Amino acid sequence: MPSAAASEKGSESGPPQGSFCFRCIGCGSVTHLAAQDFRCAQCGNLLEITDPAWKSLDAATLKSVWRDRRASNAMLDRSGVWRFRELLPAPATEQQVVTLREGNTPLYELPQASRTTGVPRLYAKHQGLNPTGSFKDTGMTVAATFARQAGYRWVACASTGNTSASMAAYAARGGMRSLVLVPDGKISWSKLSQALDYGALTCQLRTDFDGCLRLLQELVRRAPVYQLNSINPFRLEGQKTLALELMEQLDWQVPDHVIVPGGNLGNSSAIGKALLEMREIGLMARLPKLSIIQAEGANALVRTLRETGGKRLISVQAETRATAIRIGNPASWEKAVKVLQATDGACEQVSELEIAQAKAEIGAEGIGCEPASAVTLAGLKKLLHLGFVKREESVVLILTGNLLKDPDFTMDFHRGSLFQGTAHEGGSTELKPFRHPPVVLDATLDAVTQALDQAEKSDRTHSNA
Ligand code: F0G
Repeated sequence: MPSAAASEKGSESGPPQGSFCFRCIGCGSVTHLAAQDFRCAQCGNLLEITDPAWKSLDAATLKSVWRDRRASNAMLDRSGVWRFRELLPAPATEQQVVTLREGNTPLYELPQASRTTGVPRLYAKHQGLNPTGSFKDTGMTVAATFARQAGYRWVACASTGNTSASMAAYAARGGMRSLVLVPDGKISWSKLSQALDYGALTCQLRTDFDGCLRLLQELVRRAPVYQLNSINPFRLEGQKTLALELMEQLDWQVPDHVIVPGGNLGNSSAIGKALLEMREIGLMARLPKLSIIQAEGANALVRTLRETGGKRLISVQAETRATAIRIGNPASWEKAVKVLQATDGACEQVSELEIAQAKAEIGAEGIGCEPASAVTLAGLKKLLHLGFVKREESVVLILTGNLLKDPDFTMDFHRGSLFQGTAHEGGSTELKPFRHPPVVLDATLDAVTQALDQAEKSDRTHSNA
């Protein structure tokens, strides 16, 4: 297969690329063609993509090629995913690539959270600043490219909202039709509205995410649709680039901890795979600990590790206001267990109240994120408390989705109605200092001046407290 780099004009050729294959994460068997369901024909486990050529890449050459591409205007170089193409499966030609210039997301310091947690070297990599507002775009560019190359007219996914938004956008850019299966009433309107605008056939099914995913698995066996859930290993290859870009932003200084939310567990698996590959190539000398945080109400991996030592999946009936991770039967749980073990990471759960507070704290940094992303900061506090993270260590939180993805959650939180009528109502009074409800006033100078005075007074009270 010709390499993407070799076919590109106006960009340096970089190290040579090989051709990739699929390897089963269970029995290890290797094939060059994957079935529609992306499962091993021998044992039924998930597949991952690998390429024997990756092992022989030269770390110093890669670093310099990747850096130089940041100054290039070539289409592939402008993508924060394809810029790292030496570690991606290569499409037949550059023209196949479906890209919205994804990746290239900022790494922020979090000065206020640094103060409150006592961790001076605390950073957030904001994947919510991708084109459709979530980390899904980095995987979708690769998987949509291979869907188009394979000649599919329809792509499909089950989703809690972000995958469907991303898939619909990339399908539209790639001239494909998209079929979205989402749980009725359980995803945010802003995510749903994206899928509609990008032209997807959107089906709101009377079930949960796990029910949608089960149905999709049956559908792909029967109809010629290409599934773009994270079971599709091309997705995870694109999502690996988060870790490559992060290391480049840290000048290749390895952080002590990377903390990521866990839902269907594709993203943590992808980041872990990237870390292991980087170490093998010599791009990093040691591994950070990769920790996965789940919502208490959607804690399948936490329970799987605690109750079976990671040997058998414990599914749960998922319930959380962090709807992006409202998943009880995570598809990539075995991949996630492997990366936790390989990196010595931890897996923890956080409560609804802890998620809401952490989200408001990230908002107060001027960054903001959606609720599922905020489990990372809530999880860091827990890991500090448990002594797993030390204050002098460096920590990177992966913020997976944009603040604007779930405005209902944000509005309910600030108005004080988020936990009304729920089991968490009692504890929610402690969140009052983090709330900034809107005030409705007469349109007079007096009314606004008074509101300003009151805000000043309340700020002073809090700073003296
Ligand atoms: N954060 C956000 C904002 C998400 O949308 C998701 C997953 C996760 C974290 C968890 O990542 O599944 O790779 O462990 N959202 C999927 C979706 C399931 O359909 O949009 P994961």
